[in-house]
This record gives sequence, C-alpha cells and structure tokens, in this order.
Amino acid sequence: MNQYVIAIDQGTTSSRAIVFDHSGNIVSTGQMEHEQIFPQAGWVEHNPAEIWNNTREVIASALSKANLTRHDIAAVGITNQRETAVVWDKNTGEAVYNAIVWQDTRTQPIVDELAKDGGLERFKQKVGLPLATYFSGTKIKWILDNVEGARERAEAGDLLFGNTDAWVLWNLTGGVDGGVHVTDVTNASRTLFMDLETLQWDQEILDIFGVPASMMPTIKSSSEVYGQVHTSQLLRETPVAGILGDQQAATFGQAAFQAGEAKNTYGTGCFLIFNTGEEIVHSKNGLLTTLGYKLGDAKPHYALEGSIAVTGSLIQWLRDNLGMISSAPEVEELAAAVEDNGGVYIVPAFSGLFAPYWRADARGAIVGLTRFANKGHIARAALEATAFQTREVLDAVNADSGVPLTELKVDGGMVANEALMQFQADILGVPVVRPKVVETTALGAAYAAGLAVGFWKDLGELSANWNEDKRWEPQLPAEEQERQLRLWKKAVTKSMDWVDEDVK
Ligand SMILES: Nc1ncnc2c1ncn2[C@@H]1O[C@H](COP(=O)(O)OP(=O)(O)OP(=O)(O)O)[C@@H](O)[C@H]1O
Ligand SMILES: [Mg+2]
Repeated sequence: MNQYVIAIDQGTTSSRAIVFDHSGNIVSTGQMEHEQIFPQAGWVEHNPAEIWNNTREVIASALSKANLTRHDIAAVGITNQRETAVVWDKNTGEAVYNAIVWQDTRTQPIVDELAKDGGLERFKQKVGLPLATYFSGTKIKWILDNVEGARERAEAGDLLFGNTDAWVLWNLTGGVDGGVHVTDVTNASRTLFMDLETLQWDQEILDIFGVPASMMPTIKSSSEVYGQVHTSQLLRETPVAGILGDQQAATFGQAAFQAGEAKNTYGTGCFLIFNTGEEIVHSKNGLLTTLGYKLGDAKPHYALEGSIAVTGSLIQWLRDNLGMISSAPEVEELAAAVEDNGGVYIVPAFSGLFAPYWRADARGAIVGLTRFANKGHIARAALEATAFQTREVLDAVNADSGVPLTELKVDGGMVANEALMQFQADILGVPVVRPKVVETTALGAAYAAGLAVGFWKDLGELSANWNEDKRWEPQLPAEEQERQLRLWKKAVTKSMDWVDEDVK
C-alpha cells in the first residue's frame, strides 16, 4: 500500500532522494554529488544531463535501500536549488548550454546595462527582487545572447527554460515524449519575471530582457498533481504533486506556516525566510520579497528572505581549494584547537555580497592577520562568518517586521556543528532551535506532494510532526557580542569596492 512519499532534492552540491513515512521520519536516502564546473573566475556551471542521471540513480538507491517499489509511494515531491537556469531543446531533450548556477556572476554587464534605465530596483515593486546576477532572468538572457543560434531557436519555439525543478519534472514526466513543462510559484518568484500579485509572467519584463514567453514554464501552485511519472521510469505512474524551491521547502518542512514564523537553513549558503502570510511586504532593509507557498487553489503565502551566498561553501573552499581539511566536519576539530578567532575575520564575498548589502563590487577578504594567526584561527573565522552574516540578516528582518524574533529555527548540513550553533545563539542574543529532522528541505517537498494527494490531510497534521531536538541559549556577555559585531562590520567594509572594470 502507499505508505510513503518520496522527495527529490536537487541541490547545488548534490541530488538526494528521500523517502518519508507518515510521521515525517526518514525511511531511506539516496545521494550523489555532481561536478561543480568553474570555467573562469566568477563562472559556475552544472551539467544538466549529469543532474538528471543522478536524479534517476538516487531515486533507485533510496527505493532499493528500503526495499520499496513504486506501489509503496503515494506521491513525488520536487525541491531544488533555485535560480540556476537550464535552457534545453524540447525536440531533442538536450540542454543548449550548461546550467548557469545561482552563484555565477558573469551576467553583471547585463545587470549594469538594464539598470541604466531606472536603476537596480526598477522591477522590485512588481517582482520583489532587485536586478542582480543571482536570479534566473539575466542567465537566460546570457544564454540567448551568447550561444550560437539559441535566440533563433527560442524564437521559433524550440527551446524551453526551467530552474532545475522544471528540468527534473519535464524529464520525469517523459521528456520529449510528452514531458510536462511546469514550475511552481516559489521558483517562478526567483526569475525576475513573475508578477507577485497575478502570479503570472510579466510580458513587459520578458520583452525588456528579450526572452520569448514560449520558453517559460506554466506557473502552478506548490501543491497539486502536475502529471504522472513516465512509464519508462522506476516510479512510473506515480503522481508528481509538489514543487517548492529549496528554501521555501525548508520553511514548509519546519512547519513555519504562520505569519511571523521564520527559519534559517545552513547549506551551501544561508537563507533566512520570514513568513508574512497573505501580505506582500516590501523590505526597506535589503531583503527580498518572495513567494512562501501556495497550496492548490488557496491564496498564496508570501515571505521576506535574507539570502547569504557563501556559508557552507566556505568550508568546502577550505577543503577543496586550500586543502586545510579533508572533510567538512573536520573543521570543528581545527576550530576547537584555538580559544578564539585570534582577531581574524573572513568575509566570503566570493560572488559579491548578497543580503542585506547587495554589493556586486565586493570580493572575499581575510582581515586581521598577524604573525600569530594559524589555521585554527582561519577555521574559526570561517565558521564565525556564517553566524555574523546571519545576525545581519536577522537584524534586517527585525527592522522590517518591527517585531523582533524571539528564537530562530535552524536546519541544513551545518547545524550538525554544535559549536557553531552555540556561537550563533551568542551572536544573535536569542535561542537557536534545531528540529529532530534537519532534512527539512526534502521534508517540505514531501509535505507539499503528500497534501495534494490526501496522504496528509491538513497543515495541523504536519505541525504535529515537528519535534524539537536541541536548543542553544545565548551565553556571551553583551559587551563582547557588541565588540565582535563591530569588528565583523568593519571587516565587511574591507571587502567592498574591490571589483574595478579591469578586475577579472
Ligand atoms: N560539521 C560541519 N561544520 C561546518 N560545516 C559543515 C559541517 N558539515 C557539513 N558542513 C557544510 O554544510 C554544507 C552541506 O549542507 P547541506 O547538505 O544542507 O547543503 P546542501 O543541501 O548540499 O546544499 P545544496 O542544497 O545547496 O546542495 C556543506 O557546504 C558543508 O561544507
Ligand atoms: Mg539543500
């Protein structure tokens, strides 16, 4: 019988498939990392064919680990790295270019050009976002402008665009053989093209970018049956019934359904989402306005978001580029070997600074170095950078909402690091709370899919599944907290104004 729901979590560093039971517990997991392609400084790509192959493999592995077949699965949910743009040919199923990843900054000249008329915030009232390299829109334009023949093929109606949710959905439902070309409101709200009020693509903005509407997926809610898995696939005929961008999925998986609730997810980057209910709130403090979720025909829920580009990926950088550690958890040991950061601060502005600064001209900086500093201090500073960046985003949320958050729900890979969680509570001055299931991204997608097919009956049932695992109370004296924050903010100023026209 259908006792389970499976979620596909197509993330920035890996793809996972996770089977959940009715209580929201993990039954089995399949996971595969994919290649991070860096053709030049500032460029980040993924191979869409590799992502689709890995997706199929992780589904197979999750099912086989728990000895399950499609008959055990009530529905499939999809969650994904957002903003990463795939453009493919609907006749061949082949991508015309690698996926351009959300961290990629190659489209800065496109941003500058578009901002000449009306500034970086020219579309913000309508779409909730400033013009930035981060969002899918400029990436689609880059592909159409730079891949030979792409614009003609797009205008002829042969090319399709999607974030990786739509890419996975299209392939899962048959690809060239009747694949469904759909996205959900949360993903659509990350393109720069969706009107927050109508939840439709805005023709005027599409025209300004030169993107044919025929490329764009149909926008649907986050929880409804989009189609069935194609007969060629393991999960054949299972309904695909939920899509949420990864950060919105994590919010949903944390059962933060009400206005005023928030969570912070610590993965490749950090993303703090604050639910504003049915109200569209425009930030005065550098936050994005985004869709939270929309369940079937019900009204949409909106959110404010503080996006931080680099947190966990700084730890990966210590591992991969500096060779300081051989696995991410080793950073804990290294950091524990020193008493404090030794005066060292790392501002990981690898793709400029995102929230709340939005400074494309910033680049990474390590400051406060002395002859005393050692690799323990660097490790410590790398971890602390995550906590400081989160503090600045939380300050922005509090300023926008006017009602300070009294605790922060956390999840994602980095929350395994207990020293970091204690430091986070110390720097925020409010408790940090970790739930039992920290795979909230996949859980949220499973919830959206399960709700659509009646596997779960309502949000109350989901809230009842949420359980606290651990809580960290702030312990740092106020003067020390203020001193650290002051030094951090000074460090941030040192990362700014670095990129000149001739910096590559
Ligand atoms: N013990 C640890 N201390 C600090 N960072 C850690 C630790 N364990 C994992 N990380 C970091 O957490 C991140 C992985 O978290 P998570 O699995 O949530 O990310 P992800 O979901 O793979 O990201 P994405 O969805 O973007 O692919 C990695 O960047 C890794 O460097
Ligand atoms: Mg993730």
